[in-house]
Amino acid sequence: MHLIKRISDDLVWVGANDRRLAMFEGVYSVPDGVSYNSYLLLDEKTVLFDTVDKAVQQRFLENVAAALGARKLDYLVVQHMEPDHSIVIREILCLYPGVKVVCNAKTLTMIKQFYNFDIDPHVIIVNENDTLDTGRHTLHFIMAPMVHWPEVMVTYDSADKTLFSADAFGGFGALNGAIFADEVDFDKDYMDESRRYYANIVGKYGDQVRALLGKLSCIQIDAICPLHGYVWRRNIGDYISKYVLWSGYEPEEHGVMIAYASVYGNTENAAEILSSRLRDKGIKTQMFDVSVTPASEIVSAAFRWSHLVFASTTYNAGIFVAMEALITDLASHNIQNRTVAIIENGSWAATSGNLIRNHLAKCKNINILDSIVSIKSGLKAAQLTEIDAMADALAATFPVSAGLNQGGAGDTAASDMVDSNAMFKLSYGLFVLTAKDGAKDNGCIINTVTQISLTPLRISVAVSKANLTHDMILKTKAFNVSVLSESAPFSIFQQFGFHSGKDTDKFAGCAYCKRSANGILYVPKHTNGMISGKVTEIIDSGSHTLFIADVTQALVVSNEKSVTYQYYFDHIKPKPQPPKGDKKGFICKICGYVHEGEELPEDFICPLCKHGAIDFEPL
Ligand code: FEO
Repeated sequence: MHLIKRISDDLVWVGANDRRLAMFEGVYSVPDGVSYNSYLLLDEKTVLFDTVDKAVQQRFLENVAAALGARKLDYLVVQHMEPDHSIVIREILCLYPGVKVVCNAKTLTMIKQFYNFDIDPHVIIVNENDTLDTGRHTLHFIMAPMVHWPEVMVTYDSADKTLFSADAFGGFGALNGAIFADEVDFDKDYMDESRRYYANIVGKYGDQVRALLGKLSCIQIDAICPLHGYVWRRNIGDYISKYVLWSGYEPEEHGVMIAYASVYGNTENAAEILSSRLRDKGIKTQMFDVSVTPASEIVSAAFRWSHLVFASTTYNAGIFVAMEALITDLASHNIQNRTVAIIENGSWAATSGNLIRNHLAKCKNINILDSIVSIKSGLKAAQLTEIDAMADALAATFPVSAGLNQGGAGDTAASDMVDSNAMFKLSYGLFVLTAKDGAKDNGCIINTVTQISLTPLRISVAVSKANLTHDMILKTKAFNVSVLSESAPFSIFQQFGFHSGKDTDKFAGCAYCKRSANGILYVPKHTNGMISGKVTEIIDSGSHTLFIADVTQALVVSNEKSVTYQYYFDHIKPKPQPPKGDKKGFICKICGYVHEGEELPEDFICPLCKHGAIDFEPL
């Protein structure tokens, strides 16, 4: 019986799942199965995007027939020639004799290499940026060589802003009834398998993935339909940002992956002690026994973590066999930009450490710590200092922002390493952030608006939880940002910044303010731009909430220069005047409010501008 899933009014998933496959490509175990995705576009013309693996051929053909109904198939787009997506081409040609096969020249060559049927009469060759009109939709073909094979191309449907992404953005794991990534707990249940898919299938081709990401960066993408795994229609930017990290060989997290090879448990023991010492310092660790865990999982973890430790016994005068395979695998997947430490073991002639070092030295930008801990059969008490030193050396390469427990002699306390004045060296603009809840309009001054992506066009704003505007955005999920210009008088900052909207009408006397399409007021004077945001994600960050928002409207209001925080301090804000007499107290560097008294509580919040004690200085 067919099983199809509707993706939009005229796009249907006609793929199938395989949970019996033991080894994908004969190499990668797939305990959660795998999906082979194929999509059917039902426009004035009908278009099938790729086919499936032979294991699920029957279900796929039933699905295509059910989705087409009485219609004929006009086009088959072959984006990727690997047989798990192409082996059913011949059956499609037999069942739908008028169908045209749309592919590039390399794909045609490879079809002829793999299969023995006459495809020439069916073929339409496309090149970079060629298009195919199918009625309401226009398909744009974008070449993506080596993501994963040389013939790969992706297809962009500019009508629905859907990307048919071939192997890119795919993942291991069968689709369990759902079709969209946002229908499942993707981070918990699928992210590891998606990373494992990326690292092992296309990890070697980071530059080529980057080239594709570059081509995609100037188009709006509202949905991604890959050949394996779930379809993306929400939080697409989050997933693309994973690809930016992975393709740049940048770690996702600060922490240490420890892979060990141990015959009698002694090398494992050293690795466990190192892991424990690192945990004592607040460093996350993940451990793998290379004799037990498939290499593909360890390669994937190496793409995740910032630091790698390899602990291996010496075997046949070389590296233990499973460890040697892992190191070779990592090098051939182009692992880069990591800090590495090595532990070796050898009862009479330890060689594994230097051999691992020599292998990894060929990889780009791998910082291998100088000292190898060398064990003779089993770790002895006297050698614990070497393990401690390795833990210290690894910890020393973590950035302050990783927030480690830096205890111990010679360590500098984290608080001593953070001079908050460095924060003032960041450049900021200044903005009026406005919101509307029912009949209530409100606004506040903020300095934290950033464009975070082009596709989709998205910004972030960080807002103090003490502000009423914060609560209104939390409730309504919508706001406007008015970008203040250098002509802004101090009175605007007083009006929106120095009072609470809980007891004042921030817009009193502002009849000049206008409403944008979302119904929220914005400030059209002393500003140069207005951006409306619809919140897509909310991140709690202590004193502030970070709102991530899609841009729904944007206007250029004037050509005046944007005001910077520095310009505000130098040219707009009146210099704070200390009170006359010999009063003791603290003055807010932001708004000039004076708190009288001998001491300023650490948790003091300025009642005018809501900045904390850190922004006060003694009178
Ligand atoms: Fe499932 Fe490279 O293909």
